[in-house]
Amino acid sequence: MIAKKTTAKAPSTKRQPVKKLIVGNWKANVEKPAEANNLLKLIRAKAAKSKTAKVVACPSWAFLGMAYAATKGKSSSLVLGVQDVSLYEAGSRTGENIASVAAKLGATYAIVGHSERRAMGETDEVVARKAARAFEQGMTPIVCVGEADRDAHGLYLGLIKKQVLASLSEIPKSKMSSIVLAYEPVYAIGAKKALEVGDIEQMALYLRKVLVDAFGNEAASVRILYGGSVFPDTARSILHEAGVDGLLIGRASVDAAQFNTIIDCA
Ligand code: PGA
Repeated sequence: MIAKKTTAKAPSTKRQPVKKLIVGNWKANVEKPAEANNLLKLIRAKAAKSKTAKVVACPSWAFLGMAYAATKGKSSSLVLGVQDVSLYEAGSRTGENIASVAAKLGATYAIVGHSERRAMGETDEVVARKAARAFEQGMTPIVCVGEADRDAHGLYLGLIKKQVLASLSEIPKSKMSSIVLAYEPVYAIGAKKALEVGDIEQMALYLRKVLVDAFGNEAASVRILYGGSVFPDTARSILHEAGVDGLLIGRASVDAAQFNTIIDCA
């Protein structure tokens, strides 16, 4: 019998290249709706063309609805995130920014535990609960950790380990690979210079070991970002030589020309 010729396409054996994650944390640096709109438009145009970057814009809550309208149904290369979520679920919670609302407004990422929030008193326990709130709503938590300073004896490494484990304590172990960990040394945020590539690389290795030791191989694919004074002049080397999977950008994320140049570095 002659074998029938199959028309089914063989599954591709090519591995999809993993895109770098470029996250823009606008903080409260954009005040005018027109400015927010313009920024989104310019970033979206760049993100749509990038083959190497997945771009996340995290505007303030005030602009989330506008950002949703601007990105809904359009290129999936620009996705939305929020800069924080409430500890609470929907209900009588005056003034709270609730995760389920953010998710309905198209946010698929949520930064939690940023050092500017930790400086306002957020503990690892609070960060862990916030990460869980975001996760429950189908969002990817971007959990921020980082030392306030470095001591000569390396004690900061133990503190970071504690911060990582406590901040992730409410994420199911089996789902750990879906979270994003952002390493942001506090002294490098809002500073003049990013950390040296070699120092970032060492920390990325250390964080991966901490994750795998605690959560098993599932955690080997956690995406690790670096954040802290990244600008176009340092983005490329950090992205390609420091062993990280992306960047968390503050100031340069509200300057479309700078942010778009960083996207090009991915
Ligand atoms: P920066 O902020 O890039 O302005 O230093 C980074 C951050 O806070 O995530």
